[in-house]
Amino acid sequence: MNTTLLQPAPARSLGGRPDYIRIEGLSKTFGGRRDGVLAIKQIDCLIAQGSFVTIVGPSGCGKSTLLRILAGLLDYEVGSVMLDGQPIHGTRRDVGVVFQSSILLPWRTILENVMLPAEVLGLDRKQARERAMHLLQMVRLDGFEHKLPRQLSGGMQQRASIARALLHDPKILLMDEPFGALDAMTRERMNLELQRIWMESGKTVVLITHSIPEAVFLGDKVFVMSPRPGTLERVLPVDLPRPRTMEAMSHPAFAAAAASIRERFSHAASFD
Ligand SMILES: Nc1ncnc2c1ncn2[C@@H]1O[C@H](COP(=O)(O)OP(=O)(O)OP(=O)(O)O)[C@@H](O)[C@H]1O
Ligand SMILES: [Mg+2]
Repeated sequence: MNTTLLQPAPARSLGGRPDYIRIEGLSKTFGGRRDGVLAIKQIDCLIAQGSFVTIVGPSGCGKSTLLRILAGLLDYEVGSVMLDGQPIHGTRRDVGVVFQSSILLPWRTILENVMLPAEVLGLDRKQARERAMHLLQMVRLDGFEHKLPRQLSGGMQQRASIARALLHDPKILLMDEPFGALDAMTRERMNLELQRIWMESGKTVVLITHSIPEAVFLGDKVFVMSPRPGTLERVLPVDLPRPRTMEAMSHPAFAAAAASIRERFSHAASFD
């Protein structure tokens, strides 16, 4: 047995505010009162500062809706969503978002793409450039600063997107199926990279995935949502120490966590 798996989790996640993100009674309906679609229903949860939360659930259950509300990209009428004691309404600077496709501007170099938030937010250009170079190093893209997105692989483009989301030093990183379009091997590497970046940066991360192994591998907690209208059915803690290696996937605790999620969704076809 790998003894590193038996070591306690590092102190990193301790001491952070346990209710850093507080969601209470959150429901969201799209459209009118009569023909509206109830996307998410009565969600209550807490997300601790510095923790890594993953969200799984069947297609259409409201995962992206929840994430867009957290990002301030979508408003809500029922319930409350608080970040560090402040209600979330509208976009905010302390949040960075990564979507499934990397959405890099094809005519701009990787460095110029990563620096985009600095232009939008009016940050000092010189400082932003320095930070962008540092982040590109962190996501192991140094040497590719002056390439165009099409000259990079899908995984490299996604790493550039992560660097861009971190440029303005947000406290929270929200990721909506960021690795969905990648092949299995690249995806595993990206999971390791993301874990490293998260551990180095101390951010609070919320990541949506269709992959149960990915959810268990990355998450301190896995939020399991029901089919639409999406409710938060379970919050599953994953008690595997960090940093997790691919070996963690053969640990009995990993298999047990994945099995308990899979069992719940044995009739849903939308999982890996
Ligand atoms: N802008 C919108 N207008 C109307 N209905 C919407 C809108 N966005 C989402 N919906 C509806 O809300 C429900 C939840 O959608 P959402 O995109 O949050 O699901 P999801 O869990 O992210 O699905 P997937 O796993 O396929 O990405 C769906 O029924 C969808 O049709
Ligand atoms: Mg979605």
